[in-house]
Amino acid sequence: MSRSVHLTRGTLASALVGALTTALLACGGETVATSPLKPTPTDTTPAPVVLALRKVAENRALRVRIGTAAGALFNSTDAASTQYMTVMAREFNALTPENEMKFSSLRPSRSEFRYARADSMVAFAAQNNMFVRGHTLAWYSQLPSWITSGTWTTTDARALLDEHITAVVNHYKGKLAAWDVVNEAFTDSPVTLRGGFWADKLGRGYIEQAFRTAFAADPSTPLYYNDYNIEGINAKSDSVYAMLSDLKARGVPVHGVGMQMHLIGGAIPDIASISANFARFSALGLKIQITEMDVRVPTPATSNMLATQAQNYRDVISVCLQNTACDMVVVWGFTDRSSWIPSVFPGQGDALLFDRNFSPKLAYTAVNDLLSGK
Ligand code: G3I
Repeated sequence: MSRSVHLTRGTLASALVGALTTALLACGGETVATSPLKPTPTDTTPAPVVLALRKVAENRALRVRIGTAAGALFNSTDAASTQYMTVMAREFNALTPENEMKFSSLRPSRSEFRYARADSMVAFAAQNNMFVRGHTLAWYSQLPSWITSGTWTTTDARALLDEHITAVVNHYKGKLAAWDVVNEAFTDSPVTLRGGFWADKLGRGYIEQAFRTAFAADPSTPLYYNDYNIEGINAKSDSVYAMLSDLKARGVPVHGVGMQMHLIGGAIPDIASISANFARFSALGLKIQITEMDVRVPTPATSNMLATQAQNYRDVISVCLQNTACDMVVVWGFTDRSSWIPSVFPGQGDALLFDRNFSPKLAYTAVNDLLSGK
């Protein structure tokens, strides 16, 4: 009984928000209707209208950019794609191609570079005054089979890494705000150098080679090491810290660390630990960016869990706002319509700021409030 009442209220509320948001979008507005948190049966007033995330940040001249991964719905034939593009441009002032700059996407064969889709994202960003994070140059995953099933010597592998990084960094020279040069070089437990094509052929030296090669091709774009489960102080972040300290001490051109921030609702790392971790990396002279944030919850999500998720977003992003080395927060997609999570973690998802129908969730309101200084 109470469940059906709740659903009815939720449906009414979401219809109201949807209608208002649609109206605002139709006007090309920079405002968005927030989700009414606790609608009552007699509640007939529209939801409060707030400025879009990027407008809030830009109006307050915040150092921190707010970005999203641009994924499968980008300029797709999916019926929702138009709405996806509109919301992305309205809400975010940075984007990261979710898959389109990965090795396998760009290099169907050794001689062929397929830049079109990634280029269209970079062009969209330029048209909409958005920064772009390049993702990613040296990763164990998403390598094409012509590499992984080929027979290569160490010398060949070194040449392949150089050739790839030089060509791709040159192609985007001057257009990106950051490159994730090396992605996920460590395993979790035990923490050690992760195997894979580059590490198996070249050992740990591939990391340094990747940074030096990227810098040689474009000395102006900040170069990042990017990983997950390194947000708080733990064995893995200790290893990354040791590696980056060593690289910095030896003059290897590494400029920042990307904290991916794939989190579990209600079970995020201790905020004081995240803050202390950010502090030690920034004390090395590194910039910090939150690069792939999402907060997954069991689906279907309960309203309690969505409230917890909202608080988790707020608490984590607060750490970035408080550390002057942190200048960007990127969420790994923005609509629950499209996320990597359900296929990798069945029964989990709903990890993003907007629901499947592009209505803002509690998490959106929490982030908007935080950026607004509320
Ligand atoms: O493009 C093919 C398509 O042709 C095919 O029909 C379809 C069938 O499954 O697969 C499509 O490729 C998928 C690709 O996403 C594009 O949708 C791959 O199978 C799938 O493995 C790939 O997953 C991506 C994953 O990285 C692996 O590259 C996710 O979308 C992407 O969100 C995820 O992102 C990673 C970051 O790069 C690094 N950090 C972790 C993060 C989450 O895993």
